[in-house]
Amino acid sequence: MVKICCIGAGYVGGPTMAVIALKCPSIEVVVVDIWEPRIAAWNSDQLPIYEPGLYDVVKECRGRNLFFSKDVEKHVAEADIVFVSVNTPTKTQGLGAGKAADLTYWESAARTIADVSKSDKIVVEKSTVPVKTAEAIEKILTHNSKGIKFQILSNPEFLAEGTAIEDLFQPDRVLIGGRETPEGQKAIQALKSVYAHWVPEDRILTTNLWSAELSKLAANAFLAQRISSVNAMSALCEATGADVAEVSYAVGKDSRIGPKFLNASVGFGGFCFPKDILNLVYICECNGLPEVAEYWKQVIKINDYQKSRFVNRVVSSMFNTVSQKKIAILGFAFKKDTGDTRETPAIDVCQGLLGDKALLSIYDPQVQKEHIQRDLIMKKFDWDHPLHLQPKSASSAVEQVTVTSDAYEATKEAHGVCILTEWDEFKTLDYKKIYDNMQKPAFVFDGRNVVNADKLREIGFIVYSIGKPLDAWLKDMPAIA
Ligand code: UDX
Ligand code: ADP
Repeated sequence: MVKICCIGAGYVGGPTMAVIALKCPSIEVVVVDIWEPRIAAWNSDQLPIYEPGLYDVVKECRGRNLFFSKDVEKHVAEADIVFVSVNTPTKTQGLGAGKAADLTYWESAARTIADVSKSDKIVVEKSTVPVKTAEAIEKILTHNSKGIKFQILSNPEFLAEGTAIEDLFQPDRVLIGGRETPEGQKAIQALKSVYAHWVPEDRILTTNLWSAELSKLAANAFLAQRISSVNAMSALCEATGADVAEVSYAVGKDSRIGPKFLNASVGFGGFCFPKDILNLVYICECNGLPEVAEYWKQVIKINDYQKSRFVNRVVSSMFNTVSQKKIAILGFAFKKDTGDTRETPAIDVCQGLLGDKALLSIYDPQVQKEHIQRDLIMKKFDWDHPLHLQPKSASSAVEQVTVTSDAYEATKEAHGVCILTEWDEFKTLDYKKIYDNMQKPAFVFDGRNVVNADKLREIGFIVYSIGKPLDAWLKDMPAIA
């Protein structure tokens, strides 16, 4: 029986290994993590992450050929293939601070593999890493190997949160990069045979190590660039009276462009896009390519601009001040169908409004109160350290913030409502009831274009929708530059 061990039981490691175990009953899969409560949660009915369909997969395989354990050393030692799926935060100090990836967790995982291995192993990079990480890892492993042979493969994960299980069941492609030596090719074939249990052969691409590592950064950069492109257009639409949804639709009908990832929004977030682009920028700079670095930096700049543009709209519409005004925030997760808030645009928008002394009442169907409070206090980039390793904050809560358990409570007596995540339930709320319970004039700022603006205007709301023709009210109150 082939044995797989995955170091890191997070958003990537957990679902990916669960699906491998489901599709490959003849393979034993053990997911290990140093963070004990996370492992305990994986072994309970309350999984540590929310992902549609995940629980069913875990329930079917857990105890059969899928195990979650805190005994990292034992299971790494026993495995034939070790996936490494630990976090790679952005550095906050030293060389490359604010851009480069911090490989501390990766290095520690590699050292563990070197220390405990007693047999040859294939080591698979699963978390997104800077190009050439494999080389560094190879050095750690071979310098400490005691004669054991390691083959490094890069097998980047392309799953998106909220659709992780679907993406894993039917991936557009599986990418495996390895050394161009006979041993490297043999390792590629071994990993390929795992995926071949359910992925058609023509969807399993093999490349050299560096191409695989770079492809992941490139794919995320291209996707994020589409969002920044449409968001840039949204500003122009507001200025000209065009409707960004109509523009996206018309543009996306060109088969060379395609319709996906053209939804204007308050900005993109998540554990990959912002971090990977910064990383790409840093790699370009390190390789003496400042023009290329500048090009990709612009994708982040437009994203930041979109968030501050949204805050400016809110403040300027409400007579240039939100001081002591209650603003309801509907949605805090970085997208719907996940409880994940890493780099969510909601953090920047909330902080912007708090900067103007607003009183925030936040509701998200999946994000807990403590989590929201922690995010609003945390320094940028600290989010990517596991909870137990995060620096402690001086204060434990932001006073002007309350977190509610439903949208009606959040909006009660509010002056304005900001929709920051596209949760389906926000489309079907009783907006008449919400309007009746709000201060007047009552505003809705739709950062995800989920509400029917015309219907809300009929009720009496003043509505701002990203990239849509502006209400007369908003035209008269131009956004602060
Ligand atoms: C992304 C990539 O899609 C995935 O392939 C990679 O493995 C990890 O990063 P994820 O971050 O989970 O996945 O979510 P995604 O659906 O890509 O959305 C990212 C952000 O962009 C979200 O904040 C989302 O709301 C935003 N977005 C997406 C838009 O604003 N407009 C769009 O049209 C699409
Ligand atoms: P991702 O979204 O990439 O899956 P997460 O932050 O959700 O990242 O998960 C990474 C996990 O890796 C965390 O649960 C963390 O505790 C774990 N981890 C980090 N370093 C190590 C290590 N050296 N050994 C075992 N687990 C580790």
